[in-house]
Amino acid sequence: MPTQAATQSPQENAPSASPRPVIILKLATSLDGRIATATGESRWITGELARAKVHRLRADSDGVLIGSGTALSDDPELTARLKPAAKQPVRIVLDTDLRLPSTSKLARTTDQGQVLIYAARGVEPSAVERLTATGAKVVFVPRSMGGVELEAVFEDLKTNWAVNTLLVEGGGALAASLIKRGLVDRLEWFRAPILLGEEGRAAIGPLQLKHLADAPAFKKVASRQLGPDLWETYEKVSAECSPESSPPSEK
Ligand SMILES: NC(=O)c1ccc[n+]([C@@H]2O[C@H](COP(=O)([O-])OP(=O)(O)OC[C@H]3O[C@@H](n4cnc5c(N)ncnc54)[C@H](OP(=O)(O)O)[C@@H]3O)[C@@H](O)[C@H]2O)c1
Repeated sequence: MPTQAATQSPQENAPSASPRPVIILKLATSLDGRIATATGESRWITGELARAKVHRLRADSDGVLIGSGTALSDDPELTARLKPAAKQPVRIVLDTDLRLPSTSKLARTTDQGQVLIYAARGVEPSAVERLTATGAKVVFVPRSMGGVELEAVFEDLKTNWAVNTLLVEGGGALAASLIKRGLVDRLEWFRAPILLGEEGRAAIGPLQLKHLADAPAFKKVASRQLGPDLWETYEKVSAECSPESSPPSEK
C-alpha cells in the first residue's frame, strides 16, 4: 500500500507545449545506490514484485530508453511483459556508433514493437544496413559530449513517434547526462535491502558538482513496500520551489 499517494501521473502532467516528452528515470539500486556490481552484474537486484511494477511502468509509457552501455551489457528486450498482453512502448537505444549487434534481443524482437536506434551522422553504412535489416529504425542526430545530442533525440521522439512519456531505464552515464541537463521530471526508485559497496556501479554517473546548493533536488511523492524492496517516487523540484521551502516528504 502506498504510504502517500502520488500527486498526478506523469501522463496527466504532460507539458503539451514542451518540445520533449515527460521523462521518468527508473532505477533499481542497492541501499547504497549501486545499480550493478563492478563486473556489471545487475540481474536481479530487486525482487519479483518490483520487476512486475517495472513492466507496468513500461506499458504506461510511450517509449523506453537506454544507453548503449546497458544494451551491450544486459542485452534487454525492454518489452512490457504483462498478462493480459499490454500495449508495447517504442524501444529506444542511444548508440552513437551503432555497436548494437543484430543478434541482440532488441534487434531480434522488432516484430513485437518498434525499435529505434539513435546514432551520429557519419557512421559506417554497413552498420546501418546490418541493423535496419532486422526491422529496427536508425535515426541520425548530431553527436555531442558523451554521445548523441539528447535534445534532438527528444524532439524527434515527441514530434515523429508520438512519445509523450518516456521511461529511461539507465544506466549511470545516461542518467547523469539527463540529470545534469535538468531533463528528469520524475524518479521511480526501486531500492533493494542489499549493499554492493564502493566498487559497484553508481546509479548516477559523475555530475561534477562543487556545491551542495547546486545538487539537483527532488521531492518524494510516494513510497510503497514491494516485498523486501522499497519503491519511491520523486518529482523534480522546480526552480521556483527550493528544497528548503518544500522538504521531501517523510514517512
Ligand atoms: N539496476 C538498474 O536499474 C540498471 C539499469 C540499467 C543499467 N544497469 C547497469 O548499468 C551498467 C551500464 O551502465 P552505463 O553507464 O555503461 O550505460 P548507459 O548509460 O546505458 O549507456 C551509456 C552509453 O550510452 C551512449 N550514449 C549516447 N548518447 C548519450 C548521451 N547523450 N548521454 C549518455 N550516454 C549516451 C554512450 O555510448 P555510445 O558512445 O556507444 O553511444 C554511453 O557510453 C550495466 O552494468 C547495467 O547492468 C543497471
